[in-house]
Amino acid sequence: MKKAGSSIKLNQMTIKNRFLRSATMENMADADGHVTSELLKLYYDLALGGTGLIITGACAVEQAARVWDRQTAIWSDTYIEGMGKIARMIQVYGDGCKSAVQLHHGGMVGFGYSYGAKETEYSLKNATEGEIRAVIKAFGEAALRVKKAGFDAVAIHGAHGYLVSQFLSPVTNSRTDSWGGSLQNRMRFVKEICYVIRENVGDEMPLLWKLNSADFHEGGQEVGAYAEVAETLVAAGVDLIELSGGLKDQIKLRTKLMKEAGAREAYFRDAVHPFRQVVGKSLLAMTGGIRSLPVMEELLDDGLDLVGLCRPLICEPDLPDRLLKSPDKRSAKCTSCNKCLLRIAERPLKCVEFDTFETIVKTL
Ligand SMILES: Cc1cc2nc3c(=O)[nH]c(=O)nc-3n(C[C@H](O)[C@H](O)[C@H](O)COP(=O)(O)O)c2cc1C
Ligand code: SF4
Repeated sequence: MKKAGSSIKLNQMTIKNRFLRSATMENMADADGHVTSELLKLYYDLALGGTGLIITGACAVEQAARVWDRQTAIWSDTYIEGMGKIARMIQVYGDGCKSAVQLHHGGMVGFGYSYGAKETEYSLKNATEGEIRAVIKAFGEAALRVKKAGFDAVAIHGAHGYLVSQFLSPVTNSRTDSWGGSLQNRMRFVKEICYVIRENVGDEMPLLWKLNSADFHEGGQEVGAYAEVAETLVAAGVDLIELSGGLKDQIKLRTKLMKEAGAREAYFRDAVHPFRQVVGKSLLAMTGGIRSLPVMEELLDDGLDLVGLCRPLICEPDLPDRLLKSPDKRSAKCTSCNKCLLRIAERPLKCVEFDTFETIVKTL
């Protein structure tokens, strides 16, 4: 049995264990998107907690792509210095923990599940060739800034109905030119992003991609088509595919999937085999509903390389160390209540359910 504590190679770099902190919007930057000490404290806690690879929350590649008031920005060189502090925090306190920045474009945000996100003017249907090219260039330049800031890897938010995923899904991409229509055309945008990133950061910096395993939406794309996307991404230079799912109404969708999964926990578990077959030597991760060590190890046995966690690490940033190094092997404390997700509409990220101090303050 593969142990969650064993190391694994990702491109040229070694990840010390199989715990992946899946990107989690912090809503903790300042009004201009610069890194704050609040944000650094979050990464200090995570770095100390034993995770093997930490991916930051979605970071905006263009000013127009920024959809939360306190979303971190990376659309100009002025952000490199602040981001560098997150990279160093993880390097210094993470005991070998590796780091990546998730690059994000909100796209037509009204479509997605962006709680509290601002509306954008972006129209995928009406975007000109020049505008599409400018967004691709912005992803490439942002990736170079991630490298200059000292992170180990770059990650793309290619799931959940934001711009990158909007290009891929027939539900959201109704273009009739070479950027839409057939799956080949809908994949053009993601391929171009891979090429420009590789050109800018070279071959050795790991490139990670969060991808829907299926849209879970009427008229949406299923596992077979997304497996073809994964195969194309790997051929274009992606080193790790992180599977997720859903285009819209994530709270409703996750609640339903969680009920259906029951003790199997991982909502997208059935996607492991089809994707394992196409990713070749690249790594496969999966995020969604995973809460207990036996399930994590089952998934690793089934062919997953890394286990993605988001909400469990919001309330227990030291969960990996607890499961790997302490006698306490109980499942993650997180109840999947989604109160943290609703909270980031207006306030910084926090586990609301287990914040006993806030409860105490309310009673004063
Ligand atoms: C508060 C919150 C913020 C999130 N922010 C992001 C994000 O910035 N990028 C992303 O790819 N997914 C984001 N997600 C989705 C998670 O990464 C993850 O896919 C989802 O919560 C399911 O995993 P879990 O069951 O381990 O929480 C967010 C989820 C929550 C609850
Ligand atoms: S608020 Fe709920 S879903 Fe979010 S981390 Fe806490 S227990 Fe988990």
